Amino acid sequence: MGSATTEPESPPPGPRAPRIVQGLAFLAARRPVMTALGRRYGGAFTLDLPVLGHTVMISDPELVKDLFGTSRDLVGRTRPNLGEILGPGSMFNLDGDDLFERRRLLLPPFHGKRVGHYDKIIEDEVMREIAHWPEGSEFETLEPMMRITLNAILRAVFGAEGPALDELRRLLPPAVRLGARIGLLPEAVRRDLGPWSPGGRFREHRRRIDAVIESLIAEARADADFDKRTDVLALLLQARYDNGEPMSDAHIADELLTLLTAGHETTSTALAWAVERLRRHPRLLSRLTEEVDAGGSELRQATIWEVLRTRPVLDGALRRTKTRIRLGQWVIPEGYTVMASIQLAHEAEASFPDAMSFDPDRFAGTVPKPITWIPFGGGINRCIGAAFANMEMDVTLRTLLRELRFVPTDDPGERASNRGVAFAPGRGGLAVVYRRTADPVTESATASPSERAGYRAWSGGSKR
Ligand code: HEM
Repeated sequence: MGSATTEPESPPPGPRAPRIVQGLAFLAARRPVMTALGRRYGGAFTLDLPVLGHTVMISDPELVKDLFGTSRDLVGRTRPNLGEILGPGSMFNLDGDDLFERRRLLLPPFHGKRVGHYDKIIEDEVMREIAHWPEGSEFETLEPMMRITLNAILRAVFGAEGPALDELRRLLPPAVRLGARIGLLPEAVRRDLGPWSPGGRFREHRRRIDAVIESLIAEARADADFDKRTDVLALLLQARYDNGEPMSDAHIADELLTLLTAGHETTSTALAWAVERLRRHPRLLSRLTEEVDAGGSELRQATIWEVLRTRPVLDGALRRTKTRIRLGQWVIPEGYTVMASIQLAHEAEASFPDAMSFDPDRFAGTVPKPITWIPFGGGINRCIGAAFANMEMDVTLRTLLRELRFVPTDDPGERASNRGVAFAPGRGGLAVVYRRTADPVTESATASPSERAGYRAWSGGSKR
């Protein structure tokens, strides 16, 4: 960690407005407020926010590096977090050595080399989903992307298909939606106050989901090939704590639900943003299609990195100081929240020249640096599903570009809209598509005026 003896031993400065005012500004317009604060204060400033309390926002790469390198003995989780509704077995409720052990247990199926196994499964899911997509009329891609990513994560977690998974496919989306909305709110709002209260409704969702997971656990235990299975459920069932005890079924259910929750909406939102960006960058869209046809993937990978840079799904990597810590020239007291702001790190001109423009070519021949490009956070809590999410996005985009022609648009970009935890395209990532098997000349001849405007934009289009 860096040090500067001439500086005061204090957290960085920030706005002096009362907590309630800062909180309201955040609630009303978090992303523009953060951009404005970043311009005013630079790569580190301190806010005072409801729920999070004193919060040091950092985006300076050196400070981010310090935070991600800080030991799990010095920083831990913020509260409340989604663990409050996911239950005591969720890794969102683990810290220190317990978290380290749990992550070690869960990493194998999400490891970079292993995730390639899921290529075919995801391609099948995309093909199944796009079979219903209408041609020539506008529709939202966010919900279909949710179905694709839910199926993908269900397969990784449970390793099998069947009626119980169909039931989970039905039960999970409303539960995850409600959970994301109430999970970060104070306890009083989350409490079960009867069947009509948000807390009561969530409990009912949870009761049904747990019943299905219980049946899947029983099925797995009865599986003659159980020892050979590598899905997450099998790994958790085989796991032993240091004292030799297995995890309880209730704790296993909590952790499975954690992975389904963390892995589903985030990736689908990023995919909806990809569609939103590509339709506004027709030159890129045609280059990507040519690349898919030629069997390449470099530009597609750069595009995924740039989508995650310019349209980050989550706000940041949050930590709570367990003791007084030093970050660069700043000293942060115990009990403070520190957040590596993904948005501000990605908007920094010093790291990404012309940062507000969408330009995947900035990554040509290089890879993003883990302290300036941080969509998956870093350090002790770095996203466990990062490689899995990247693979899912890659296979989904590859299949979409191979099968469909997206009609470009010169509509303004969709605004980021907060869905509880994730920031999604405000209009749901609207798309107009045609199947590529159709004759493009006939399609242009029969296109509506707005579609023809879209085709005209094909050869140009702004970068924003
Ligand atoms: C584009 C998709 C995704 C994005 C942008 C994303 C982003 C993030 C971020 C920013 C964090 C916090 C990291 C930190 O505090 O340093 C996180 C944590 C986490 N993510 Fe993801 N994620 C994505 C997909 C997934 C998937 C597919 C899974 C499935 C396994 C997953 C599972 C998790 C878990 C379990 C954590 C908590 C880790 C911990 O606290 O130790 N995520 N993710």
